[in-house]
Amino acid sequence: MAGLNLKNLYKSFGAVEVIKGVDLDIDHGEFVVFVGPSGCGKSTLLRMIAGLENITEGELFIGETLCNNVEPRDRGIAMVFQSYALYPHMTVYDNIGFGLKLARAPKEERDRKVREAARMLQLEPLLDRKPGQLSGGQRQRVAIGRAIVRQPEVFLFDEPLSNLDAALRVSMRQELTKLHHDLDATMIYVTHDQVEAMTMADKIVVLNGGVVQQVGAPIDLYQDPANLFVAGFIGSPKMNFIEVTAKTVGKGEVLVQSDVIGEISVPLNSDRVKTGDKLTLGIRPHALSRSDDGPFSGQVELVERLGNETVVNFTLSNGSAWMAVLDGDEPLKLGSEVRFSADVGAICLFDAAERRIR
Ligand SMILES: Nc1ncnc2c1ncn2[C@@H]1O[C@H](COP(=O)(O)OP(=O)(O)O)[C@@H](O)[C@H]1O
Ligand SMILES: [Mg+2]
Repeated sequence: MAGLNLKNLYKSFGAVEVIKGVDLDIDHGEFVVFVGPSGCGKSTLLRMIAGLENITEGELFIGETLCNNVEPRDRGIAMVFQSYALYPHMTVYDNIGFGLKLARAPKEERDRKVREAARMLQLEPLLDRKPGQLSGGQRQRVAIGRAIVRQPEVFLFDEPLSNLDAALRVSMRQELTKLHHDLDATMIYVTHDQVEAMTMADKIVVLNGGVVQQVGAPIDLYQDPANLFVAGFIGSPKMNFIEVTAKTVGKGEVLVQSDVIGEISVPLNSDRVKTGDKLTLGIRPHALSRSDDGPFSGQVELVERLGNETVVNFTLSNGSAWMAVLDGDEPLKLGSEVRFSADVGAICLFDAAERRIR
């Protein structure tokens, strides 16, 4: 097992800088998820760790070894991609064992490792099949088996579940979490799906535009997002936002105002804002509840009655689309006006630089 240290990593493709100074420490045995929107640099960063992209600047340590110039095959890593690229003419058994065969591992050792991986991945009954006779989920498990038999120090996964249907994604993500537990290996997992990140990670790294936005345990990012981007990215449905102005700044509280929601007094350490500052107010859909005199109101656009809860899409008077998730069944009419309030403790504020200030 090995940890990793990324020190001020940069990557440019020609004149375009894609990774912009990433610092990151990953411990032995951690399950780390890189998450962020498409194009933010997740795959590039993973490929730099794998050695499939060279490092423009900075240092990459795997264990104690500076790996910038170490060949991919000598880094002690195995990578599993979204497209699993199995050999179609080989059986599952031979696909899993192919790397060991190339490395001239003795036949008995090869057999033992292939069967052990097949057992972990519940592929034992399928060892004689060809990839064409397998489902998408089974093929992805074969690709993971191929990585396991190499006994890498570090597993790298790049959106391995993206090609699977929703139900299979849920079960595969549970299997991968269990596999991580069984193998006790360091795993780095890339996804654009924040639910995958929340459910699988020991530690989430939120990337945007090649810059790390925040690193932390899933629940810490949810409860304590550092900035507007993380607040909007982590959590489903997304946090609602509206622009407000700091109207008066008092002792330990600030009165924020907008034409859409009127005035709300929010407890806040007053040295962080001054009168006239432009702020963004954020509130999670689950924090809203119906109230005839609440500040948040709009027109109902869509109601999803799930029985245990009701998801309401509504539009504020400035045209912003907001969501509320209400407990129980709320038979709201399309086009009607609804009003919500929120516990003041659930209100987030962000400054003009998009940092969270409460
Ligand atoms: N080989 C390449 N040459 C030029 N630009 C690239 C190359 N690979 C990736 N990029 C660019 O780098 C950015 C990050 O890409 P990528 O790491 O694949 O993002 P993600 O995996 O987060 O979707 C994108 O703008 C992409 O177009
Ligand atoms: Mg990618």
